[in-house]
Amino acid sequence: MDDLAALERLVSVSGRDVVDVGCGGGALVRALAARGARVTGIEISESQLAAAVREDDGSGARYAVGTAERLPLATDSADLVVFMRTLHHVPPDRMPDALREAARVLRPGGVAYIAEPMTEGDFFELTSMVEDEREVRAAAQRTVAGAGAAGLDRAESFEYEVRVCLADLNALAARVISVDPTRREVFEARRPEIADAFARLGEPGGRPGERCFRAPMRVDVLRTD
Ligand SMILES: C[S@@+](CC[C@H](N)C(=O)[O-])C[C@H]1O[C@@H](n2cnc3c(N)ncnc32)[C@H](O)[C@@H]1O
Repeated sequence: MDDLAALERLVSVSGRDVVDVGCGGGALVRALAARGARVTGIEISESQLAAAVREDDGSGARYAVGTAERLPLATDSADLVVFMRTLHHVPPDRMPDALREAARVLRPGGVAYIAEPMTEGDFFELTSMVEDEREVRAAAQRTVAGAGAAGLDRAESFEYEVRVCLADLNALAARVISVDPTRREVFEARRPEIADAFARLGEPGGRPGERCFRAPMRVDVLRTD
């Protein structure tokens, strides 16, 4: 199942004001806009936002620089705030602020959708060679469990599995480093080991050299109370 299909199982997006916090390359922003949502993609800097802006093909989405813990958006301006693999990137002591900000920008009856990668599966094993995210991912789960403090009720949880297919080791490097450019140094230092793991883990994809990896995800749907 892909991210959009999982999201659409749980919340409706057409005609809604949707915020994608930490939108990365903007694939979900464009997909949501194509589904009829009015989308705003948020990234932490102009450089982190550049790919999403560049790839946008006139989707109608808006983009802004800001952080989860201080969204550059008006109070009561959104129906859905999406954190797709983003919450564990917020500094742990600021994660509760991120949920409070989501609650602030959501209209009454709005939804915060938190999708986090689980600490299992061969994609986790592979990417852990660059950065071990166990602690920050656990902190994100604890924050979601305490969402009540932000005025959000945990309404529903759901797990699904993404299949991440990468053409070659350079495609893995591009994906991992796009999240955080400081990872380049570790990736290059460990390239031979990572290349071995890339060949050993996962399974062959449909194209020569391509490998596909399992990445289980957990979603929590939080509603304003
Ligand atoms: C793993 S990527 C996920 C990107 C995209 N949502 C996706 O699923 O492909 C995490 C993103 O969170 C962004 N990020 C890091 N710290 C953040 C913060 N404090 N607030 C919002 N986004 C942040 C990063 O720049 C990065 O693009």
